[in-house]
Amino acid sequence: MNLDELAQSAAAELAGLKSPDDAERFRIKYLGTKGLLKQASDHLRTIPADQKRAFGQQLNVLKNELTSKFEAARKELATAKPAAGSLTDVTEPGCLKFDRYQPGSLHLINQTIESLTDLFSKMGFAVAGGPELEDEFHNFDALNVPATHPARDPLDNFYLERPSGAQPFMLRSQTSSVQIRVMERSKPPIRIVAPGRVYRPDTVDATHSFMFHQLEGLVVDTDVTMVDLKTCIDQFARGFFGSDVQTRFRPSYFPFTEPSAEFDVLFHYPDGSTRWIELGGCGMVDPAVFAKVGIDPEIYTGFAFGLGIERVAMRRHGIGDIRAFYENDVRFLSQF
Ligand code: DAH
Repeated sequence: MNLDELAQSAAAELAGLKSPDDAERFRIKYLGTKGLLKQASDHLRTIPADQKRAFGQQLNVLKNELTSKFEAARKELATAKPAAGSLTDVTEPGCLKFDRYQPGSLHLINQTIESLTDLFSKMGFAVAGGPELEDEFHNFDALNVPATHPARDPLDNFYLERPSGAQPFMLRSQTSSVQIRVMERSKPPIRIVAPGRVYRPDTVDATHSFMFHQLEGLVVDTDVTMVDLKTCIDQFARGFFGSDVQTRFRPSYFPFTEPSAEFDVLFHYPDGSTRWIELGGCGMVDPAVFAKVGIDPEIYTGFAFGLGIERVAMRRHGIGDIRAFYENDVRFLSQF
């Protein structure tokens, strides 16, 4: 009888035990009263005296080792759960047993659009929209952008190929086109905001993208003044970023407003420092724009503004790279 072989086969079987039943079969086969170790003990009596000592010692070591290893394995099997999927308790409520779908959430851009339109609707604005595929008239002509203006450069816009002589189409480069769409279809008083996508062939980097979102605002009524514009921007900034922010206007130029301004918000940083951040453009609607849509500038005045939605979301949440919005990395998106 070869104890090495016995030890080897016992070790292999021990490693393959999968259930308490397997363990019991193993116990009977090796450790039972008629088991292989008992047979080895019987064999000990029959071997020549000079080999007895070595065989007996090896047998003892093997017996101790197998017994303790077997006990450990049996304990483990008694407490182990059945392998996943091997058993289904059909009486368990399904929702505890199986993974449920993780509910997603609105994309941060849409959340930002919602909180902006919520805020502006409290300030009396309706939400309007217009097409992303625009014609030059709504994107430029009616907004008083001269035919030679650099903003019309084909390198700065996505124009569509069209049969020669046909009206040029483009992906809108600004939501200001919605001002025209709204004034064409409605009469003053007008008080709208228009969120949406705009497209410009910019090289993508941390602050630029070929597609981004703007929110346009337009108010047209009798007696609308620059004071109303300043108050509106101030209320928006406080409502959106918190009551401790300050705003300022810097003189600027846009073809569709006169006078025009860019507006900045003063942010306070945790280290005590402050910084003016430019958020958008605004101004009093140019009478030339009213003329294009048949609104009498002798009766009505108005103001308009436009801001970058990614930009305000980045400021509000401390996001440093615009590309994070479009990469759809769930680790980023699920934070909001
Ligand atoms: N459309 C401008 C842009 O994309 C932003 C803007 C400036 C909108 C002034 C306005 C405005 O309504 O009055 O840069």
